[in-house]
Amino acid sequence: MTAPKGTFDILPPDSARFLAVRDTLTARLRRAGYGYIEAPAFENTEVFSRGVGESTDVVSKEMYTFTDRGGRSLTLRPELTAGLMRAFIEHRLYDGALPVKIWSVGSAFRYERPQAGRYRHFTQVDCEALGVDDPALDAEVVALGVQGFRDLGLTDFELLLTSLGDATCRPQYRELLVGYLTKLDLDEETRRRAEINPLRVLDDKRPEVQAQLDDAPLMVDHLSDSTKAHYDAVRQHLTDLGVTWTEAPRLVRGLDYYTKTTFEFVHHGLGAQSAIGGGGRYDGLSAALGGPDLSGIGYAVGVDRTLLAVQAEGLDIGTASAVQAFVVPLGAEAKRLAVRLVGQLREDGVAADTVYGDRGLKGAMKAADRSGATHVVIVGDRDLAEGVAQLKDMRTGEQTTVPIGDLFPTVRAAVGP
Ligand code: HAM
Repeated sequence: MTAPKGTFDILPPDSARFLAVRDTLTARLRRAGYGYIEAPAFENTEVFSRGVGESTDVVSKEMYTFTDRGGRSLTLRPELTAGLMRAFIEHRLYDGALPVKIWSVGSAFRYERPQAGRYRHFTQVDCEALGVDDPALDAEVVALGVQGFRDLGLTDFELLLTSLGDATCRPQYRELLVGYLTKLDLDEETRRRAEINPLRVLDDKRPEVQAQLDDAPLMVDHLSDSTKAHYDAVRQHLTDLGVTWTEAPRLVRGLDYYTKTTFEFVHHGLGAQSAIGGGGRYDGLSAALGGPDLSGIGYAVGVDRTLLAVQAEGLDIGTASAVQAFVVPLGAEAKRLAVRLVGQLREDGVAADTVYGDRGLKGAMKAADRSGATHVVIVGDRDLAEGVAQLKDMRTGEQTTVPIGDLFPTVRAAVGP
């Protein structure tokens, strides 16, 4: 049997790198005072159809929707934001101090055509700041995303930034764009797409379409005074925070809830699936899900793609050995001592391991080597009779004889903190 199409297992040692990427990204959010929310991996389908938007590919083509045994329509989350907003509304988190700053991490599911960096099951680290419409908060959130990537040591990435306007200026702009698009030579399907969401046509990668879009009106040129002032302030704060960006007036996101500040992080070492994260402000989402008319801003980072980016830059992350000390017992008596010593070391916070099964000296030393331990304790029955064991530093090859009574503190000190 194999894993379902578009999914994969992450096995040791790669899984250590996956965890390191995930944990580095979330550590940044925890340090910034964001609170963790654990939300279900599936929601009532309407959370996404109303939240993410019926016209998006994510909702119309990519959702894993099923009817449960009680006749409810449920959907495996294609992203985390809508579910977190549902939780925010359900538990009236808006009754407390605003903004409510939250983060989460977990699986997301999209029925997409699998390719490198695009999977049907993937992991997102998600950050949201809810309830306050302040450009300084936009800048904080964007900067957190940038800093997460920097914490990993990534440098070859770019922040694409734009403003998508809001309910006061987007409808007029939309009309303008539709007017422009109707005059173009487009195929039937593209026309239909233009009717549902004309902005998406701007993102069409086909050269014959792009060639006709040179003079297309852009949202950033038609922002209302207040959304323009908001965008200017966001950029000012980002400059103050030392964040650089590229203006991306044609940036189109795959989810419908965005308003005003909208952004994507792209990595240059990844080929077609270059977006390692993305997000923006979504001032209508709470109301769309039946909550109060409150704003929000956030982003999600794709852990799987970020791991590919880390590998593309050749960064050495999560490769430190999981085991510090390895005990090789030779004989039944030594085995007891080995099990006890490993237990003691683990109790004291040292990553320790030993061999199981009848391996013999050669097999056991191979296991010790493979474990990556810096220190190996070898306990033979003859040594034991003399009350000693051998401690080998695998980095230098140096071997010392240690009295059994001193073994634990000696190993403890040798492996370091
Ligand atoms: P998104 O751009 O759809 O935004 O996804 C965020 C990131 O998840 C992408 O940049 C990518 O790294 C990763 N990702 C998406 N689809 C796949 C896939 N099929 N395979 C692998 N990785 C994938 C959101 O999901 C929004 N909820 C972000 C947000 C939070 N906006 C506001 N708050």
